[in-house]
Amino acid sequence: MPDPANTEPSNAPALTIEGLRISAATEHGRVDVVDDVHLTLRPGRITGLAGESGSGKTVTGLAVLRLLAEPTLRVESGRILLGDLDLARLPRGELRALRGRRVSMVFQEPMTSLDPAFTVGTLIGEVLRRHLGMDRRAARERAVELLDRVGIPEPEKRVDSFPFQLSGGMQQRVLIAMAVACGPDVLIADEPTTALDVTVQAQILRLLRSLTDDGMAVLLVTHDLGVLAEHCDDLVVMYAGQVVETGPVDDVLAAPAHPYTAGLLAAVPSTARRVERLATIPGTVPPPHLLPAGCRFVARCPHAAPVCEEPVTLEDAGGGRSRRCARAAELDLEGVGR
Ligand SMILES: Nc1ncnc2c1ncn2[C@@H]1O[C@H](COP(=O)(O)OP(=O)(O)OP(=O)(O)O)[C@@H](O)[C@H]1O
Ligand SMILES: [Mg+2]
Repeated sequence: MPDPANTEPSNAPALTIEGLRISAATEHGRVDVVDDVHLTLRPGRITGLAGESGSGKTVTGLAVLRLLAEPTLRVESGRILLGDLDLARLPRGELRALRGRRVSMVFQEPMTSLDPAFTVGTLIGEVLRRHLGMDRRAARERAVELLDRVGIPEPEKRVDSFPFQLSGGMQQRVLIAMAVACGPDVLIADEPTTALDVTVQAQILRLLRSLTDDGMAVLLVTHDLGVLAEHCDDLVVMYAGQVVETGPVDDVLAAPAHPYTAGLLAAVPSTARRVERLATIPGTVPPPHLLPAGCRFVARCPHAAPVCEEPVTLEDAGGGRSRRCARAAELDLEGVGR
C-alpha cells in the first residue's frame, strides 16, 4: 500500500534567505541598507513583506533576482537558497537563465515594465521561446491560455493588443502572465497593486492567490498591512533594513511580538477596531547612516528600556515565529481580530 505520507506535498521551503546584508554607496559613504534579513517562502503560500518606506523591501526582492543596481548596491553577505542553489553566489549568466523560469518578479508600474512596441502575445511568447524553446505558433497558443488563466476576457483577441490598448489592471495581468509563463517556483510581487484602484487591486490579489494552487510561492511586498492581513499566509515585518518579526499571519495579527508590528497594526482600519482609535507611529525611520547600535526602533518605541540600547538578534520564538525584541517575553502587545 502506498504510504500516504509520501503523497503529501513537500514542506521544503521554496526559497530561504539567511543573514542577507546589502550595502549601498551613498553621500555618507558605503552603508548597509539591508542587514541580517532572514525569511522563508513556502510552496503554495503567500508571504507578505511589510514595513514603512525605506525599510529595504524592494532591495531585498531585487537581490533574489540579482537585479540590484550594482555597483551602487551590492550583496555583502548571506545566502539566498533556491533548493541547492545559492542565488547570491551563482554566476550572473546562470542566474539570468533562472530569472523568469524559476524565480520571477512583477513591479508596481505595469506600463513601464511592458515594451510598448510589441503585442502582448509577442511579449509573453518571447518568454516562452527564450526559456522553453517553444516555436512561434506553440508560444502564441500558450500565450492565449495564459491570458485566460490570468483572467483577461477574450484572450484570442487580446493576444494581438498592444499594452497601451489595455487598462492598468489588464496590463498588470499581462505582466503576471509573463512572470508565471514558465511555472516558476517563486514569484516576487513588489507593490503589484499600489497603482491600481481598489476593486482592481482585490481582483489582482485574488489572481495571485489562485496562482499558488500549483505550489508557486509568492512574496507579496507592500507597505499596506491591511492588504497583507487579508491576502497572505505568512508575514515578515521589516524595520530599517532588518527583519523584526515573522510568523503565520493570523498569529502575528492576534498577538504581535514586536512593538513595531503592534504600531503598524494600530494604524490599520479593521472591523474589530473603531476608527477613532486609529494611530500612527510617532517619528520616522532613521536613515541607514544614523542607525543606533542597539534596537533600531528604540527612539519610537513606547516600551523602550535601557536593555534596548544593546544589539538584539532575531530569535526563534517557536510556532514558526521569530522576533527581534529584547523585551518580547515581558510585553503583552495588543493585536487585532480578523
Ligand atoms: N540605488 C540606490 N542607491 C542608494 N541607496 C539606495 C538605492 N536603492 C535603495 N536605496 C536605499 O536602500 C534603503 C531601502 O530601500 P528600498 O527601496 O528597498 O525600501 P522599500 O522598503 O522598498 O521602500 P518603499 O516602501 O518606499 O518602496 C533606503 O534607505 C534607500 O534609500
Ligand atoms: Mg519598495
